[in-house]
Amino acid sequence: MDLIDKILRLKKERNAVILAHNYQIPEVQDIADFVGDSLGLSIQAAKTDADVIVFCGVHFMAETAKILSPRKTVLLPEKAAGCPMADMINADQLRALKQEHPGAKVLCYVNTSAAVKAECDLCCTSANAVRMVREGLKDADEIIFIPDKYLADYVSAQTGRSFIVWPGFCPTHARILPENILQEKELHPEAVVIAHPECPPELRKLADCVTSTEGMCRYVKETKAKEIIVATERGILHRLRKENPDKVFYPASKFALCMNMKLIQLEKILWALEDMAYEIIVPEEIADQARASIQRMLDFSE
Ligand code: 13P
Ligand code: SF4
Repeated sequence: MDLIDKILRLKKERNAVILAHNYQIPEVQDIADFVGDSLGLSIQAAKTDADVIVFCGVHFMAETAKILSPRKTVLLPEKAAGCPMADMINADQLRALKQEHPGAKVLCYVNTSAAVKAECDLCCTSANAVRMVREGLKDADEIIFIPDKYLADYVSAQTGRSFIVWPGFCPTHARILPENILQEKELHPEAVVIAHPECPPELRKLADCVTSTEGMCRYVKETKAKEIIVATERGILHRLRKENPDKVFYPASKFALCMNMKLIQLEKILWALEDMAYEIIVPEEIADQARASIQRMLDFSE
């Protein structure tokens, strides 16, 4: 029996669902029940009636799924799949920052650990960060925004609010340079540029559209442009090409790869289902506190 058949058979036996982020390798995206951005994956995790969630993404995403579905078994097929940006701030560091700004509300990007989320008032993803500031924190005098300084800059530009920021960033998006875009534009003068808000401001300013990975999938379907330069992790090109065979996509940089996202392969999905590993565990007290900030975000996103 081939690998895919084995996975599908075991998935059925375990009553499992496979969720995959837009940056996963093509074979993993193709076998998943749902492929999406951080917000879409959280919503799926909260509403699935499966017993087991096999999460093909990075650790904070699987942790978010566990927090939202505490009675389900959540498996991350590769234990080492972390997010370097999420690791740039820990709960002690956030507590110290909160002490410096006792009146501030804390908005955390979903790319944070459960322990950090437990210290926050509201969570956001790149898809709804602007809305969370405009609606969720409209009465806040001061806002701490962690950990992505570039996403904070983007939201600040959109909302006119200033934030107390943490100097975190995504190493994958920070590697995409403005000169990469200029070079691609010279090669493809008709192309439009789409960029993720995790990109640095100098790059963002060269983009026609700045949005989350799911926002990119939507924009690309709707635009009249036939050529698109894509400034985010290259894994998304698989889905963009699959859903838009009539359009041509150019990655902004060959270096835009998140190696953590590439750690999950079909073999590891099979082993995860066979061994029921690696199971994500979040201590109850932390999960309860973190859930409040995620649930508040989901309530606004409905
Ligand atoms: P979204 O898919 O939510 O836009 O996030 C991008 C990302 O870097 C996830 O780690
Ligand atoms: Fe983290 Fe960036 Fe990789 Fe997303 S692409 S998981 S933010 S390092």
